[in-house]
Amino acid sequence: MNQQTLILIKPDGLKKSLTGNILTRLSETKLEIVAAKMVRVPRELAVEHYKHMKDKPFFEELVQYIQGTLHDRKKVMAMVYWGEDAITKVRQIAGSTNPEEADPTTIRGSYGRITTKGLYENVLHTSSNESEAEREIKLWFQPDDIIVDLYPTKVVTMEKAKRKIWA
Ligand code: CDP
Ligand code: MG
Repeated sequence: MNQQTLILIKPDGLKKSLTGNILTRLSETKLEIVAAKMVRVPRELAVEHYKHMKDKPFFEELVQYIQGTLHDRKKVMAMVYWGEDAITKVRQIAGSTNPEEADPTTIRGSYGRITTKGLYENVLHTSSNESEAEREIKLWFQPDDIIVDLYPTKVVTMEKAKRKIWA
């Protein structure tokens, strides 16, 4: 069954110059990249993305981690991968959440670490199931950012909407 999944190369992955390595590993899945962009992550987006973790003692650190405050790299690379069993395939190559427990041949097992404060810096995010993938993709991307139609859309007329264009 074709699925879509959100992948974020987290600020530690960018800081460690791992973008190329991570994309190479992900290409083993033979999935298609249907959206990609660099994102400066506002606090509201970070909090919404990790809202299921809001009761964890490390929540505030997690928000600072994905915003890039911990790594002085205030950006993430966001992508949507699409194809047969995309969610499982990407999570398998990504490896377990805890980088110490992750199989050493996986991306997290190869490049992740646990900080002295105990936060798992595991270089990438990947959606965990179809409903989370839908929630996350709709949070990070607008329909026109994605080159295939993944979810139903509607057309609305924006009165007096301002947007920046090239001068
Ligand atoms: O990212 P994944 O779906 O594998 O795990 P999660 O349970 O949704 O947790 C989100 C993120 O919180 C992880 O990727 C870790 O960066 C962090 N985390 C942590 O630092 N310590 C934990 N005990 C659990 C999660
Ligand atoms: Mg998760």
